[in-house]
Formats: sequence, structure tokens, C-alpha cells
Amino acid sequence: MKNLKMFLISILFVFGLSYVVIESNQVSADDDFEEKYEIHEEDDDEEGTYEEIGKTIGWGTVIAMGAAGLIFPIRRSAKWIITNYPKSKNIFISISKFLGKYHLYLGLIALALSIFHGVAMYLSEGKLESEGIIGLGAVIFMMIAGILGTVLFRNKKVNILRTTHTTLIAFALLIGFVHIITS
Ligand code: HEM
Ligand code: HEM
Repeated sequence: MKNLKMFLISILFVFGLSYVVIESNQVSADDDFEEKYEIHEEDDDEEGTYEEIGKTIGWGTVIAMGAAGLIFPIRRSAKWIITNYPKSKNIFISISKFLGKYHLYLGLIALALSIFHGVAMYLSEGKLESEGIIGLGAVIFMMIAGILGTVLFRNKKVNILRTTHTTLIAFALLIGFVHIITS
């Protein structure tokens, strides 16, 4: 029950953050292209709605992947931070434990959002173009990493699973980055 609560709070958090990110983007977009939008407003209404929702979910995916991925720098820098800043030990350990506990949910949220984003973008474009195929690559890597991650969750001592999960995620992040800069 407590886990479900945290899961729902995480979803709300991710959507909240992505809303803030997109809202600030839209203000400048509206200012720059107001006239262009007005001319095509009626034709593109339905397509535009899918696209806007899809883009918002795309940024939500980025935030969720970032939140899930935080576990990496936090774990790797733990020794250094505790040695150099012993006063921050307690807070650092709490953050590390929190991220460890909810990593799986953040990862699953990232995966779910990437799929929703892909479907929404496909519906708005009506076809799969090169940037969509690159995005699909990122989702496939994340999906395989997620399957290995659920196995890893049951047996955290299998280091080969951890390494493979991390490597696949690194590829997913790289491909995701290429997808964003090319779209
Ligand atoms: C990990 C996976 C993915 C991430 C993190 C991601 C993220 C993003 C982001 C942040 C944008 C830019 C939105 C904007 O311009 O404001 C975008 C655009 C786009 N994405 Fe994805 N995406 C992913 C997967 C996919 C998949 C699977 C598809 C399609 C099947 C897809 C199709 C598109 C398309 C067509 C655009 C271009 C939108 C436009 O500017 O017209 N993406 N994506
Ligand atoms: C899709 C669902 C996902 C599942 C089920 C999952 C599951 C797991 C599990 C169980 C661990 C071991 C954690 C521990 O030792 O306490 C792990 C580690 C890790 N995960 Fe995920 N994960 C998922 C998605 C992601 C995503 C989206 C990212 C990054 C964007 C990510 C990055 C990592 C990294 C870097 C580690 C290694 C942490 C370390 O020990 O240094 N994972 N994952």
C-alpha cells in the first residue's frame, strides 16, 4: 500500500515537472509563431493535440529517465562524498537509499512514458519516419534493460545482470539523445 502510494506520487511528480518544462517552452513558441498557428489552426487541430501531448510525454520520459539514472552518479560518488564531506553522510545515505528503493518504479515510469510518447507521436505523424525509428531503438534497449532489471531486482548479487542492465541503459540514453537532437 505504501509502495503504491509512492508510485502514484512519483507519477504525479513526473507529470508535474514535465508540465512545467513544456509550459515554459510553449510561451516562447506561441510568441514566435502566433500567426503561423492561427492560419492552420482548424486543419491541424486534432493532429496538433496528439503532437503536443506526445511532446509533453517525451519530455516526461527524459525527466523520468534522468530520475531513474540518478542512482548511478550517487552510488559511484558515495565513497568520495562521505570521505570528503563527512557532515553530509546521513543525508547522502538517505538520498541513496531512497533512489535505490524507488529506482525500479522510476524506471518503469520512464519505460511506460516512452511507449505512450511513441504511440502519440506516431498517431500525430501518421507514419514512422527516421527520428521515430531512432526513438524506437531507445525504447527497445530500455525494454530489454527493464526485463533484466526485474530479474536483477530479485537477485541483486548477480553482477553480470547489473552490468548488462547499466550498459543497455547507457545505449538507450545515447540513442535517446540522438533522437532528441535529430527531431
Ligand atoms: C526513450 C525514448 C524516447 C525519448 C526519451 C523521446 C523523447 C523525445 C523528445 C524530448 C522529443 C522532442 C519534443 C519536442 O520537440 O518538444 C521527441 C520528439 C519526437 N519523438 Fe521521441 N522519444 C523517445 C522515443 C520515441 C519513439 C519510440 C517514437 C516513435 C515511434 C518517437 C517519435 C518522436 C517524433 C516523431 C518526434 C518529433 C516531434 C516533432 O518535433 O515534430 N520518439 N522525442
Ligand atoms: C525499466 C525498468 C527498470 C528496472 C526494472 C530497473 C531495475 C534495476 C535494479 C533492480 C537495479 C539494481 C539496484 C540495486 O542494486 O539496488 C538497477 C540498477 C541500475 N539501473 Fe535500473 N531499472 C530500470 C530502468 C532503468 C533506467 C530507465 C535507468 C537509467 C536511465 C536505469 C539505470 C540503472 C543503473 C545505472 C543501475 C546501476 C546502479 C549501480 O549499482 O551503480 N535503470 N536497475
